[in-house]
Amino acid sequence: MAQLVAGLASSHIPAIGNAIHKGLQQEPYWQPFFDGYKPVHPWLAQVQPEVLVGFYNDHGLNFFLDKMPTFAVGAATEYHNADEGWGIPTSAPVAGCQALSWHLINSLIADEFAIVTCQEMLVDHACTLPLKLFWPGQEVAPVQIVPININTVQFPLPTAKRVYKLGQAVGRAIASWDSTQRVAVMATGGLSHQLEGERAGFINKAFDLQFMQSMETNPEWATQFSDLELVEKAGTQGVELLAWLAMRAALTVAAPGVRKVHGNYHIPISNTATGLLVLEPVSNRFAAP
Ligand code: DHB
Ligand code: FE
Repeated sequence: MAQLVAGLASSHIPAIGNAIHKGLQQEPYWQPFFDGYKPVHPWLAQVQPEVLVGFYNDHGLNFFLDKMPTFAVGAATEYHNADEGWGIPTSAPVAGCQALSWHLINSLIADEFAIVTCQEMLVDHACTLPLKLFWPGQEVAPVQIVPININTVQFPLPTAKRVYKLGQAVGRAIASWDSTQRVAVMATGGLSHQLEGERAGFINKAFDLQFMQSMETNPEWATQFSDLELVEKAGTQGVELLAWLAMRAALTVAAPGVRKVHGNYHIPISNTATGLLVLEPVSNRFAAP
């Protein structure tokens, strides 16, 4: 059976793409952000996930407001990126893992989840940039991906409770995948940020830190909040943190607990409070690191 070996979570911000392109990683503005990822690189090289199931939200590149699925799962052999208008260079296509895509799709439908199946799917900065952060310096990350899009951009949003259940269902599907591949789950988005309106620039450090802590010790904590409560606490774009919840819920299927491998929190990059978290499933949550 497939083995779930890691949970990764990262913010995604278009400006990161420009910083990488221009080689600004050690500039004072960027260093505290990029240095956060450094301890993760040798760990990932050791753990070597082969397949990455990525929870993220599209921002209008693949889905626009006229057709907005709540949950959409990729089933392509390859995922292309395209110009989103941020001025960042278009990334090379990422390989898909069709075998896991179809297993996941079959499993989620059998589990009564309403999903859209996408045999073609453009992936935007929310998918491409975290791959460059976790596997820097490579033209393409050395993993095959299964992108899972969660609508966080147009109301009605899925509730945190429902996203958690989706994550559990994805975790069950990975656990029942007849494969020897090493699988990681990744979430991208958040943490608190709001790009428009009266509260543009809104950041809520206290909430973000509590949310990150809950990922370690109380994974269901954020499911108590409604979509509007999440907007109030994290900002209109901060609701992207729903992806983190799905990632963490998937890990609960693999093991009762997690060990925090590494984390970072840095304010702000552009308008966003950035978070990074790497978790490893452990059978005993009190196990020594
Ligand atoms: C920013 C953050 C995002 O999550 C995003 O998708 C686009 C822009 C920002 O802070 O600039
Ligand atoms: Fe975003």
